[in-house]
Amino acid sequence: MRTLFIGGLSALIHSVSTNAHTAAYAKGMYCRGGPNGDNQNANDPVVPLYQLSMEDWWFQHDRGCDLAPPPEDEFLELPAGGSFEVELAHNQAFTTLSFDGEFTSEWPDGGDHPEDWHGPGSPPDCIQEDGALHVQNESMAAGTAFAISYHSELSEVTLENLAVFTVRLHTPWKRVTSYDVPAAMPACPLGGCTCAWLWVPDGCGEPNMYMQGFKCNVTGATATSPVAPARPPVYCEDDLSSCVQGAKQMIVWQQAEGDNIEPSQSKSPGYNPKGLE
Ligand SMILES: *[C@@H]1O[C@H](CO)[C@@H](O)[C@H](O)[C@H]1NC(C)=O
Ligand SMILES: *[C@@H]1O[C@H](CO)[C@@H](O)[C@H](O)[C@H]1NC(C)=O
Repeated sequence: MRTLFIGGLSALIHSVSTNAHTAAYAKGMYCRGGPNGDNQNANDPVVPLYQLSMEDWWFQHDRGCDLAPPPEDEFLELPAGGSFEVELAHNQAFTTLSFDGEFTSEWPDGGDHPEDWHGPGSPPDCIQEDGALHVQNESMAAGTAFAISYHSELSEVTLENLAVFTVRLHTPWKRVTSYDVPAAMPACPLGGCTCAWLWVPDGCGEPNMYMQGFKCNVTGATATSPVAPARPPVYCEDDLSSCVQGAKQMIVWQQAEGDNIEPSQSKSPGYNPKGLE
């Protein structure tokens, strides 16, 4: 039994390293266990979004994840003025949501790596063993973010009411990753809010984007002012005064429909000061 299982896992690791990428695993996520909810090795949410119609990329409709909400009353909890944790991984198997966490390590691929993990050469080229991270070393990691919509039903969420509220620079990198929650976030409506995990990698592979759904809820809120409508991001590395102030939309990039940012030359936008904020 045990031997068979390990064989299965090495086949899994192989498929992960060749064709999968990274997603945020946590309570409240859509597509836990895959679209049918029964797969401990699910990597459906990690597949990037590339050149898709808006209907297809929006909350990963292309793979049915938008139709696989978490159990009722399960939310990603966002403590106002505090922080929350998710697990960034290439497969649910490498998180504590599967197999009682038996295959987790400090890293998203369940493997062991040096603290200063980097690709070959100097300056380092892309990390080869784990192309899914799309990166040369920690300092080059493009940044990931969460956005929130004060609507309980996914069908009510729009680009304008989904605002980026937290960014973690130099991620994805290690598995356990935390994001800060602004103290000024108001409480969600009775049925909770809808959130999205977001990432735009910078180089080291196909330019693509990630948008993954969560049911979320702000706890301990004291603020009451609603979040302002989100405005499209602007690529502002060359002119910081052109950066958008206040609530911003997610970055829509490299899709067949809906792109909302035009970086200068061949640069990549991202959830970092250089590419967006
Ligand atoms: C990380 O990699 C980039 C790109 O190769 C390089 O410019 C930078 O110096 C590296 N940083 C460290 C701390 O090694
Ligand atoms: C969201 O959190 C608030 C504050 O803890 C709580 O009162 C409310 O019931 C929660 N909403 C849902 C839908 O669980």
